[in-house]
Amino acid sequence: MSKKILITGASGLIGSRLTDLLLKKGYPVSHLSRSARGGKVPSFVWDVDKGEMDDQALKGVETIIHLAGAGVADKRWSKSRKKEILVSRIKSTDLLYKKLSSINHFVTTVVSASAIGYYGFEGDEVLTEDSRPGTDFLADVTKQWEAEVDTLADLKLRVVKLRIGIVLSEKGGALPEMAKPIRLGVGSPLGTGKQQLSWIHIDDLCEMFIHAIETNQMKGAYNGVTGSWVTNEELTTAIARTLKKPLWLPNVPAFVLKMIVGEMAAIVLGGSKVSADKIKKTGFVFNYTELDATLKKLLKR
Ligand SMILES: NC(=O)c1ccc[n+]([C@@H]2O[C@H](COP(=O)([O-])OP(=O)(O)OC[C@H]3O[C@@H](n4cnc5c(N)ncnc54)[C@H](OP(=O)(O)O)[C@@H]3O)[C@@H](O)[C@H]2O)c1
Repeated sequence: MSKKILITGASGLIGSRLTDLLLKKGYPVSHLSRSARGGKVPSFVWDVDKGEMDDQALKGVETIIHLAGAGVADKRWSKSRKKEILVSRIKSTDLLYKKLSSINHFVTTVVSASAIGYYGFEGDEVLTEDSRPGTDFLADVTKQWEAEVDTLADLKLRVVKLRIGIVLSEKGGALPEMAKPIRLGVGSPLGTGKQQLSWIHIDDLCEMFIHAIETNQMKGAYNGVTGSWVTNEELTTAIARTLKKPLWLPNVPAFVLKMIVGEMAAIVLGGSKVSADKIKKTGFVFNYTELDATLKKLLKR
């Protein structure tokens, strides 16, 4: 009998695809969401703000995949939005901790999302899991989020954190946003265009979650990236090439982006070169490491 998996934040980009891939492999899957949803798997409800969660959600569960958190790029970073980005991750993890320490359960493993935002956007060094955390807002959020996730190890659980890079998917996230203006003939690189982007195909990322479930030796932080990085300009050009669209406009200056989206511009103006060596050493094999081939698969003309 396969291990029963509970996914938090499962209605999102990664959770939806991961659910499909887990079901395909025969894993029983259920979801823990802020609202009840009819769907292909059982769905349980939690209210993170109120600290409430359906006890039935953990019944028979062996592994929790923890993805829940307010979308980092969904809304302008007002003071209250920044708080929500942090608190949704801390409180949801704390709620899992409180439930797991107060009821009988069979959970042995938690695989949590984290982000390469942990490292910040400073410098040009290749970042490994041992590199120092950054000092900006996202680095600070990720550091606190990981520290909260680490408390689950006190409950004698195996805890894995995947520091996810830029997820390439046709269904959401960065790629459709970058492709939209290019399709309309008004695409161009952002800022200097020289910022380095560490990316991963959504299927490789979901396979990495499954690899973490199945590899008992894995513990702690692993970078969820292919380990081959491209500049913003190279990615923009590659998308245009795939869509057979011209790029003729000058780069969008950083100050314009800051005027439009405020501090959140840091997400697209910054970059980092993140290594995949540690996850490869666990035997994980990527299916998508070549950018043009990956984009060809993902982008419909
Ligand atoms: N996609 C990326 O490029 C990327 C990169 C780095 C890190 N990550 C991290 O990986 C995780 C999953 O990413 P994703 O792209 O699938 O994110 P997503 O599409 O935004 O989904 C996150 C899910 O979290 C739940 N959620 C939203 N706001 C919440 C709140 N205030 N309190 C509790 N739960 C809330 C929602 O699920 P319900 O409606 O079902 O509750 C939502 O569907 C996130 O934590 C994200 O930060 C993603």
